[in-house]
Amino acid sequence: MLASVAVIGGGTMGNGIAQVFACNGTDVKLVDIDAGVLERARSTIETSLARLVKKERMSDADAKAALGRLALTTSLDDCADRELVVEAVPERLELKTGIFAKLDAVVGDSCILASNTSSISITVIAAATHRADRVIGMHFMNPVPIMKLVEVIRGNDTSDATTQTVTEAAKALGKVPVTAQDYPGFISNRVLMPMINEAVYCLMEGVADREAIDQIMKLGMAHPMGPLALADFIGLDVCVEILDVLKNGLGDDKYRACPLLRRMVAAGHLGRKTGRGFYTY
Ligand code: CAA
Repeated sequence: MLASVAVIGGGTMGNGIAQVFACNGTDVKLVDIDAGVLERARSTIETSLARLVKKERMSDADAKAALGRLALTTSLDDCADRELVVEAVPERLELKTGIFAKLDAVVGDSCILASNTSSISITVIAAATHRADRVIGMHFMNPVPIMKLVEVIRGNDTSDATTQTVTEAAKALGKVPVTAQDYPGFISNRVLMPMINEAVYCLMEGVADREAIDQIMKLGMAHPMGPLALADFIGLDVCVEILDVLKNGLGDDKYRACPLLRRMVAAGHLGRKTGRGFYTY
């Protein structure tokens, strides 16, 4: 078990990642440029822990201890003493490379820098640092406290020692780490996004309505959510971004985002987070 980590980005993924580390005995610094986002992240974690206490999955004392291990900060400089930093900021390459370059200068030599990116190349992110052997992908799934998988992505120069440390860290969180090489979309989104995209094509072409498409995949394939509901959950803008990474990175038009998906993003209907996507929330 790592003694200290930092998580960069206090959004949905970042606060989930901070929660699972804090609940498993690690001292966590949660970093965001926006103090308001940090306060909301703390309150989301408090609510989530209170729910676990109410369900008797965790004692009140353990929940308090977990919160006690969580510190909030707006400065990347506070990552100087960390063993592992997990970045979970929005999926913009320049934003991520800027943060990795800054972290590289701030943290100690042995610190591992991980990205929770869903599809951006770990090799490209690592190239912004002078420690490509200690840069890796640590891709958690939403909702982080519930989902068992951590997709561990090895960049071109990620070392075996780094992979082993991160794999052990994921296991210590009660997760199942599965390793993939650094190709566009890794495994999770290379397989998931074409399925979601095809479901949107089915809707656009009138093969069936949204409920029927989702029911078929839920009842027929035992998926917990249908692909259109899942797209709303992930964010339609995120789906388009990932499909663009697949199309550009693999150079194959079969990954082109369905025009209906693009149109909904253009209209600002991004799924649950805007209250409207394929469904209304
Ligand atoms: N945080 C903590 N706990 C949560 C939660 C959250 N955000 N959302 C749900 N839960 C808990 C509930 O409290 C409930 O707990 P109990 O069983 O103890 O009551 C349990 O999870 C089940 O929740 P619900 O009964 O509300 O609903 P459900 O059975 O439909 O489960 C779900 C909800 C877990 C989200 C389930 O629908 C599911 O697994 N959906 C698929 C999620 C998925 O595919 N995630 C991956 C998305 S892709 C991604 O993240 C990566 C990417 O790169 C795009």
